[in-house]
Formats: sequence, C-alpha cells, structure tokens
Amino acid sequence: MKKEAEVIVVGGGPSGIAAAGALSSLSIPFILLERADCFAPLWQRHAYDRLHIHLPKHTCQLPHMPIPDDWPKYPPKSLFVQYLQRYVSHFRINPVYNRSVESAHYDDASGRWHVAARDVSAGCGSEGAAVEEYSARFLVVATGESCNAFVPEVEGRGSFGGKAMHSTEYKNGKEFAKKKVLVVGSGNSGMEIALDLADHGAITSIVVRSPVNFVTREMLNWAVALLKYLRFPWVERLTMMASRLWFGDMSKFGIPKPEEGPFTMKMKYGKYPLVDVGTCKKIRSGEIQVLPAVKCIKGNEVVFEDGRSHSFDAIVFATGFKRPTKQWLKVKEEDCLLNDDGIVKPSCPNKWKGKNGLYCVGLSRRGFLGATLDAQGVANDIKGLL
Ligand SMILES: Cc1cc2nc3c(=O)[nH]c(=O)nc-3n(C[C@H](O)[C@H](O)[C@H](O)COP(=O)(O)OP(=O)(O)OC[C@H]3O[C@@H](n4cnc5c(N)ncnc54)[C@H](O)[C@@H]3O)c2cc1C
Ligand SMILES: *[C@@H]1O[C@H](CO)[C@@H](O)[C@H](O)[C@H]1NC(C)=O
Repeated sequence: MKKEAEVIVVGGGPSGIAAAGALSSLSIPFILLERADCFAPLWQRHAYDRLHIHLPKHTCQLPHMPIPDDWPKYPPKSLFVQYLQRYVSHFRINPVYNRSVESAHYDDASGRWHVAARDVSAGCGSEGAAVEEYSARFLVVATGESCNAFVPEVEGRGSFGGKAMHSTEYKNGKEFAKKKVLVVGSGNSGMEIALDLADHGAITSIVVRSPVNFVTREMLNWAVALLKYLRFPWVERLTMMASRLWFGDMSKFGIPKPEEGPFTMKMKYGKYPLVDVGTCKKIRSGEIQVLPAVKCIKGNEVVFEDGRSHSFDAIVFATGFKRPTKQWLKVKEEDCLLNDDGIVKPSCPNKWKGKNGLYCVGLSRRGFLGATLDAQGVANDIKGLL
C-alpha cells in the first residue's frame, strides 16, 4: 500500500534533519527516508575519531536551535552528534530507517511525486516485498555531497597485498604505528588523516597532485568577516598573502603552488579551502612525505608518476565521493536543479528550488550554513504553497 505524505525528505544527514526541523516548526507533516539505520551516519559511523567542526559553531547550527554557548567554538565530532541527537528529539523527528530510495518521479495527472524505497533490512530473498511506495506533493532531496565513497580505478589496485580503505572507514592511526602508510588525496580528510597517522607513529606519505591553498581556521573567519567591508578579490588577495606568510612556500616540499585563490578554486572547481590543523608543520619537518600522483600498484609496491616507487603496508583513499542522485531522480533535463554530478547547477538562482515541488537541501557546496539556509527557504516556500 502506498504511504501518503505532504512532504518526503530523502536523506537523514544534517541537511535532511535541518529540513525536518524547519518543516516541523511550521507544523508541516513529512516522512523522512534514510537508508542507514541511524541519523547522520557520516558523522556517527564514517568519520575519523579526531574530526572537529572546521568552522565556528554558530555557522554549523541547524534551524531554530543554537549550539549551546558553553560548548567549544569548534566542537569535536562527538559533541556535534550530541547536538544532532538533541535536535532530532526536540523536533520529534522520526526518520524511517533502512529505506534506500531507488526512484522518484513526478506524475502530472495527480500532481504528486511517487517515490520507491527499498527496505534494506529485509533479506534479499524477498525481492518485490522489500520495495515500498510513497507519494507526496513535495520532494526534498538531502542525500548529501558525501553520498557514496569513491575510489578511483588505479592500475593494479587489486594486486595490493596490504590493507586498503576509503577515508570513511578510517578511525585512527593506532593499528598503523611503525607501518608504512600512503594517503591518496589531499583534501581536508586526506590531510588530517595523514596528520593522525604521523601522530600515531606511522611512516606517512601523502599524494598531492594539484595545487593546495592552505588556510587556518582564523584566516577563514577573517575572510568571511572582511567580506562585509571589502570586495571579494581583495579578501582573496589578503587571504593568500596571510597564507603565504603563515605557511611559507610549500612548493619546496612537493606541493604545487596555487595560481588561483582558495575562494576562486571553491567557486570554479568546488574544492573546499584546506583548513590546516598541523599537517603543514609535519610536511615541513619531513615527518610526512609528499608524493606525486600514483601511476600503478604492483603488489605492495606503489609506482608514482615521476618513476619513483615505494612499498606500503596500507593505503587510505581519501579520494572523495560520488552522488548517484540522477540515477534515481527521474526528471526531464530542463526540470532538474541538479547537474549530472548531483550538485546544484550554478544557474539555479536560489540553490534549492526546482520544478513541481522538487527541492534540495545541502547540495550547493556551502557546508552546514548553506544547508540551514536551504532548509529554511524550502520550509517557508512549502508553507506558502499549502
Ligand atoms: C569529514 C568531513 C568533515 C566535514 N566538516 C565540515 C565542517 O566542519 N563544516 C561544514 O560546514 N561542513 C563540513 N563538511 C561538509 C558537510 O557539511 C557534511 O558533509 C555534512 O554531513 C553534510 O550533510 P548532509 O546531510 O548534506 O549529507 P550527509 O551527512 O552525507 O547525509 C546524507 C544522508 O542521505 C542518506 N542517503 C543518501 N542516498 C540515499 C538514498 N538514495 N535513500 C535514502 N537515504 C540516502 C545517506 O545515508 C546520508 O545519511 C564535512 C564533510 C566531511 C566528509
Ligand atoms: C535496520 O536493519 C538492520 C538489519 O539489516 C536491523 O538490525 C536494524 O534493527 C534495522 N533498524 C531499524 C531502525 O529498523
């Protein structure tokens, strides 16, 4: 039997929870479908132990509930999860867990969205019975920028005899003391995991292929504050100068020098600025070795683009994520607000509204703050249409 709702929210991460909170506070009924069996699984299960929020807490709070004043400015993962727990209880958000959405389409005749979700807790024997049908006037996509872990095809990857994992499986460096570990990927996760490995006594290397703009948390804060007074190119120039003074010339250590500033790179390529929490110092001291792109893997030996090769006991792929949203969200190309990569198209004016009651939250690369703004926009828009 089809379950009916006013709104269906897909995804129970911080963005989906934010949407639920905003809807709830306007008394709009909804059903939230989450494929995992807990809320925010990325934060509860698939993040490394030492993770802290990178931006000041007031930019990471969800609608209508501040993060407590007496909490640290940059809360650790465990506190942030506690905040989410309070949020979910306060707004009485009851996600339907173990539901993986497999298709969604809009039906012109009924003016409703039809959503099919697989009950992943049901054994695989019961094929048909495990798929449930839902329908709603509005559909909110909140499946995250970090939806599915992605590991690139590297020639010979299967031949690697050591331990290989994605950054979402990495907890801490305890088991890697004295082991030779290669981190592939130099975004925020890769850089911090390399630091954690080195702190735990692993012989650590990191692959850095493209230019990196290092900033400190403070530089990021200042930049955001300065944007109120100065034009963007000036703020970017000042940030790059500060970065250069603070971190020095990192190209000596194998990190390509950036031609473009951190915010330009964010806008053009969707790359988040690299908030350094101590990795640079260890790169400068030689505790963390920087290596170029991987060419291929032969058993425990990894061959790099410059011809060097080293053997490793473990590889951590901090190589990001893919978003298969377009595979299940069946909409005409001109109707959709997401590109093929599952990110909001730059041409979309408000970053969250599509056609026929389709919305998304947290898919425009603006972190928690963006998700919170999206969620409030979506809830208010739906309220106006009801
Ligand atoms: C390590 C790390 C640290 C970060 N730190 C910060 C930070 O300090 N500040 C900041 O602003 N941002 C940060 N971000 C970026 C971003 O804010 C987080 O990724 C945040 O978790 C995004 O929330 P979300 O709900 O959009 O996505 P997610 O947390 O990924 O949640 C999406 C949810 O949708 C579910 N889902 C996906 N597909 C389906 C489907 N088909 N059916 C049902 N459910 C589905 C998933 O299981 C998941 O629970 C960080 C990201 C990472 C990876
Ligand atoms: C989700 O499914 C797992 C089994 O796959 C089960 O152990 C768990 O209790 C289920 N959770 C919920 C909330 O239904």
